Amino acid sequence: MYNSKIAGIGHYVPENVVTNHDLEKMMETNDDWIVERTGIKERRWALPDGDDTPSTMGTKAARMAIENAGLTPEDIDFIVFATLSPDYYFPGPGVMVQEQLGISEIGALDVRNQCSGFIYALSVADQFIKTGMYNNVLVIGSELHSGGLEKTTRGRNVTVIFGDGAGAIVLQKTDQKGVLSTHLHAEGKHAKELALLGPNTKHWVPEIIAENDPDDTSYYPYMNGNFVFKHAVTRFQQVIMEALEANGYAPSDINLMIPHQANLRISQFIQQKMGLGQDQVYNNIMRYGNTTAASIPIAMSEAWQEGKIKENDLICLAAFGSGFTWASALIRW
Ligand code: UT7
Repeated sequence: MYNSKIAGIGHYVPENVVTNHDLEKMMETNDDWIVERTGIKERRWALPDGDDTPSTMGTKAARMAIENAGLTPEDIDFIVFATLSPDYYFPGPGVMVQEQLGISEIGALDVRNQCSGFIYALSVADQFIKTGMYNNVLVIGSELHSGGLEKTTRGRNVTVIFGDGAGAIVLQKTDQKGVLSTHLHAEGKHAKELALLGPNTKHWVPEIIAENDPDDTSYYPYMNGNFVFKHAVTRFQQVIMEALEANGYAPSDINLMIPHQANLRISQFIQQKMGLGQDQVYNNIMRYGNTTAASIPIAMSEAWQEGKIKENDLICLAAFGSGFTWASALIRW
């Protein structure tokens, strides 16, 4: 039986910074409300006429991860791409990254598990490596939310939270330490509490255009914020404890926890409830907002660049979001 380790990591965010004060010009909101409720000060929103798409951003993050691993694109055996905001309805962006990296004919898989997408994708890659099928799997999380947000007062409870960006890792076969475990969960009965429901196969674009209903917000993301928040704080703790217990560890053994960046209040609540110190939890939501499937690899890449992840550290990744889905991964770096 083989093991898998993170051999290289990278990230990319669009240049365009949108501060809370910029949002005040688009809708009735204010810096105090956003900072107090979410911790977010600014986010990146790709320019509408720029070159950034989920796949191009994913490719840039992937190039950095491949270089950091000391590899070239030809060394990659398989791609797993997590996103809720693909370039197109179909095909998924995995194949576009394969094309953009110029790697011929390797497989490319798309994962649609929203905020938990990166850990689901990591888990898939881990299984392929542990069975001996692949040596180097590229795992990408990338989102371009800004193009699909309602930038008015009506959409403010969702729009101020989300940002654009991409992160990537190369997961590599090793006979040493690495990914210790992944735990994946879902509860589909809450599918509509955080969702974008239209257009869909029963309510397609021409119908929506013909109805011309100004009250139809189904093609913007909907979030039952309080409900999601309450489930998030519980599920995060459960799935982190599940990872620790499965490997015989306690919260105090974690060197760095990198939670999905949903809300700084959620991260701080978990930190306090689990008795973790401030330096045991990494947050960068202040600068990027919630980048869904990209948030964990962006945060992990920055933490690594800042020297906050060292050889032999115990790293815990955890996520909760739309589905509902939630997941954790424990890694001996
Ligand atoms: O990543 C996937 C998982 N996502 C999450 O985990 C997110 C979980 N939920 C949350 O983070 C929080 O629920 C939010 C940050 C989304 C909202 O915070 P909240 O404390 O739950 O606020 P609320 O929705 O209860 O709204 C409180 C008030 C309302 O006004 P009234 O009814 O009290 O007069 C809202 O209309 O704040 C108002 N409001 C805003 N005001 C200024 C909502 N959005 C805004 C805004 N600016 N952007």
